[in-house]
Formats: sequence, structure tokens, C-alpha cells
Amino acid sequence: MLRRFAFAALGFALAACAAPETEPPPDPAAVSAGAEVTQQMREDGRAIAEAQCAACHAVGPYGESPNAAAPTFRTLLSRYRADVLQEELISGIRVAHPMPEFQFNPQGVDELIAYLESIQEAPTP
Ligand code: HEC
Repeated sequence: MLRRFAFAALGFALAACAAPETEPPPDPAAVSAGAEVTQQMREDGRAIAEAQCAACHAVGPYGESPNAAAPTFRTLLSRYRADVLQEELISGIRVAHPMPEFQFNPQGVDELIAYLESIQEAPTP
């Protein structure tokens, strides 16, 4: 009796695994809250930075910003906490920023932050 129940439960679990396409799309807020950082996210973040930020900011691991007033991305997180930046990006940064208004979805913001974290210069001792 007990054993039959265990098999039934296992069958159910397998069925659930076999049908991922019936899952609802992930809730962007949930993705933002506990997302695991993957290489893919960093690459997507770099693509966002290159497309939307590189006109003014140096977005790579070296080089100067095209707009001298714009801080290089590789030093950004030494002055800006990642979670603060994340919130500002989600709400669309306008603070102290002569930039166009950006609209990111939370996932795009996660990707951008993941990329930023991956290029920060090691703090000088
Ligand atoms: C049109 C030019 C331009 C573009 C495009 C641009 N920025 Fe900026 N950004 C600036 C300038 C100039 C500053 C410095 C503003 C200041 O300090 O008054 C700045 C400052 C910032 C700061 C604040 C840094 C600090 O120390 O306070 C952040 C964060 C930032 N930019 C992120 C981004 C991101 C992310 C993107 C792309 C999505 C982007 N910027 C695109 C011009 C730009």
C-alpha cells in the first residue's frame, strides 16, 4: 500500500519533469529576486551595455569613456552598490544623469548587473 503510493508519487514527479512546456512563464520579479548568475546573463548584460550605454560610458574592461563625464563601467560598483543600482535601473535612472531614459525589464537589469560585477577592477590594496 505504502509502496504503491511511493510509485504513484514518483510517476507524478516524472510526468512533471517531462512536460516543461506547460509551465507558466517565469515571473520577472521572481527571476530578479533570486536569480543565479550565469555566463549567459553576463553576455546578455554586455550586449545591453554595448547597445545602450557605450555611446558615453567605457563598458569594457579597459579604455576611457567616450563622454569624459561618464564613469567607466569597470569602476562603477566601487562607488555604487549593486542593489541600489539595480533598483535605479528598474525604475529607470534619471538621478544625476544626462542620459536618455532607459526602460529595462528586471531580467535585463539582472543581466547588466551580472556583467558589471564580472568586469569590476580588483580593488587596489
Ligand atoms: C548619452 C550619454 C550616456 C549614456 C548613453 C549612458 N550614460 Fe550613464 N552617465 C552619463 C554621464 C555623463 C554620467 C555622469 C553624470 C554625473 O555624474 O553627473 C553618467 C553616470 C552614470 C551612472 C552614475 C555613476 C555615479 O557615480 O553616480 C550610472 C550608474 C550610469 N551612468 C549607468 C548607465 C547605464 C547602465 C547606461 C546604459 C543603459 C548608461 N549609463 C548610458 C552618460 C551616459
